[in-house]
Amino acid sequence: MNCLVLETEGSLPVWRELPKPVLAPGCVRVKIAAAALNHRDVWMTKGLYPGVVYPVVPGSDGTGVVVEASVGGESWMGREVIVNASYGWGGSETVQGPDFTILGMPQQGTFAEEIIVPFEQLSPRPAHLNAHEAAALPLAGLTAYRALFSRAKLQAGERVLITGIGGGVALFALQFALAAGARVAVTSGSAEKLERALQMGAEAGFLYSDADWAAKVVEQFGRIHVAIDGAGGPGYIGLIDAAEPGARIVNYGGTGGNPEALPIRKVFWNQLSLLGSTMGSPADFAAMTAFVDRHQIRPVIDEVIPMSDGAEAFRKMDASRQFGKLVLAL
Ligand SMILES: NC(=O)c1ccc[n+]([C@@H]2O[C@H](COP(=O)([O-])OP(=O)(O)OC[C@H]3O[C@@H](n4cnc5c(N)ncnc54)[C@H](OP(=O)(O)O)[C@@H]3O)[C@@H](O)[C@H]2O)c1
Repeated sequence: MNCLVLETEGSLPVWRELPKPVLAPGCVRVKIAAAALNHRDVWMTKGLYPGVVYPVVPGSDGTGVVVEASVGGESWMGREVIVNASYGWGGSETVQGPDFTILGMPQQGTFAEEIIVPFEQLSPRPAHLNAHEAAALPLAGLTAYRALFSRAKLQAGERVLITGIGGGVALFALQFALAAGARVAVTSGSAEKLERALQMGAEAGFLYSDADWAAKVVEQFGRIHVAIDGAGGPGYIGLIDAAEPGARIVNYGGTGGNPEALPIRKVFWNQLSLLGSTMGSPADFAAMTAFVDRHQIRPVIDEVIPMSDGAEAFRKMDASRQFGKLVLAL
């Protein structure tokens, strides 16, 4: 079986042969049709993902056909499925438990011709999505859904700011928030990406490279009830500056590093909720796929690249050149 393998820290993945994975009890074998990149795959190439051990076959998102099933999984045979990358969440809706892992390290990931998947991680491919779109959905869709609805408890009519709109999670957050009847503004490092977000239904866009972006959000869009942020870094303080009293600021990533000094008085006086969010529970995943079905949401795909040329997708994501998901097709 051929896979994209990260051999060592600091190198891009290479397409090479590895032994076929062995079917385990409680699992099926999925013949992968398409997979999609997430930023954690890029962090792994740099040794920046906690606990990464090389060599590794990355990839958390994938879709394909079940070609072999162990006892109890016969009903999945021949079905087109997507894979929920949130493994071992545990019994609490509040937070993941100690056995939580994400598909694609330590387990073999989806950047391979075949993968072994436990029954409970399978979900039917949404009927309105083609294979490339379905591959783009699971991890980023789940993360955006939990951040907006389980954590921020977004209501129709609220003003939401979504940072770094070119990102995979950010674009799902835009689509989901609009479908829920919220008003949305976005930030980006690129004027062209802001324009594309406006065409999708965002009301306003701001360059995060502009030192006054938070003041402009307040002037031109209004104070925000909810922020959905995957960047952290210095811009995180701007979210606090632009917040309506009582706002919920949800962070799911740290692409920009740690924020600078927190203006703590604004946090307590304005009764702000600073929330963290990671992936999602099985209930979040089921709610996300139902929401995507109900609103017929189609993931935004930047480019479909043959999996054997996958290194190019890693370069593109590392340079933030994408708008939406980078899909690797077989
Ligand atoms: N906690 C979780 O469960 C979870 C799940 C998924 C992802 N993440 C993390 O969330 C982050 C985004 O993941 P992703 O897969 O969506 O990545 P992605 O598709 O590579 O998107 C990253 C985006 O970050 C934006 N960005 C870069 N610097 C920024 C800054 N200073 N301020 C605001 N935005 C900035 C860029 O947006 P523009 O191109 O518009 O400038 C870029 O497109 C990563 O750090 C990832 O590790 C966490």
